[in-house]
Amino acid sequence: MNTTVEIAGVKFKNPVMTASGTFGSGMEYSDFVDLNKLGAVVTKGVANVPWPGNSVPRVAEVYGGMLNAIGLQNPGIDVFVERDLEFLKKYDTKVIVNVCGKSVEDYLEVVERLGDEKRVDMLEINVSCPNVKEGAIAFGQNKDALFDITEKIKKVAKQPIIMKLSPNVTSISEMARAAEAAGADAISLINTITGMKIDIYKRKFALANKTGGMSGPAIKPVAVRMVYEASHAVDIPVIGMGGIANAEDAIEFIMAGATAVAVGAMNFHDPYTTEKVVDGIEEYMKKYDVKDINDIRKIV
Ligand SMILES: Cc1cc2nc3c(=O)[nH]c(=O)nc-3n(C[C@H](O)[C@H](O)[C@H](O)COP(=O)(O)O)c2cc1C
Repeated sequence: MNTTVEIAGVKFKNPVMTASGTFGSGMEYSDFVDLNKLGAVVTKGVANVPWPGNSVPRVAEVYGGMLNAIGLQNPGIDVFVERDLEFLKKYDTKVIVNVCGKSVEDYLEVVERLGDEKRVDMLEINVSCPNVKEGAIAFGQNKDALFDITEKIKKVAKQPIIMKLSPNVTSISEMARAAEAAGADAISLINTITGMKIDIYKRKFALANKTGGMSGPAIKPVAVRMVYEASHAVDIPVIGMGGIANAEDAIEFIMAGATAVAVGAMNFHDPYTTEKVVDGIEEYMKKYDVKDINDIRKIV
């Protein structure tokens, strides 16, 4: 039985990854989850300098998921390299570093800094966070801006790059094609869908930021549709995510066209979700006689 998948020459032991921002940088979950079992650890977003994030409250529960407006709080690249990347050196899993920034220069600084870090297998460029005021989302909602930043990052990156796309667009196929045309090695989607919650008793927004990103099982059908459309629009591999709660969900994304999948908000509900998805995919393969996970990709 083959569970390995390949993206831009990087070989993953299985297609299961963590979705950025929902698993710390690995260390935070390592008491619960055997990181060696995962296809890859995708770290939380890291910028050139520390970011404090948005004011609280910045998470809210909603039916079928959650809203967040963390605002990409992170310790900055120096602490990340010394503490988080160092920690990941003892594990046999691939490491994908999620990169955020407010300007093209911010992104380039982080990408260049990570260039000689052998522990970094790939870079995931977050151009789709709906919760930061400047930069970020602007690159992810305009195909020319997406093309431009992708091309610039690709010129300096030493590792293969994954452009993380926003679902808050009219045509996901058009955005996927722009990333591919600019040289992206892969794309990942979906990031969160912009939402809002109002506390009718306090007569206030549930989040200080007013709006937040919706994630969790409720967004899965939207994500599956977008992964299907994007993966049929381009030839580069797609990493699918959005509401994955179990192996059946993961397999649905693979059948829609994803080469790999990532588990996000469900890590907060059950910290063992990633491992359960890895085991569940193997059980499915045995039960339904799937010899190679790659055989069921794009099967519909
Ligand atoms: C609390 C939280 C923090 C997140 N932080 C990041 C981040 O730093 N970078 C990023 O690209 N995506 C971030 N995301 C988006 C997730 O990686 C994922 O794309 C999205 O939540 C959809 O998947 P899910 O429904 O399985 O959570 C975050 C999501 C949540 C819930």
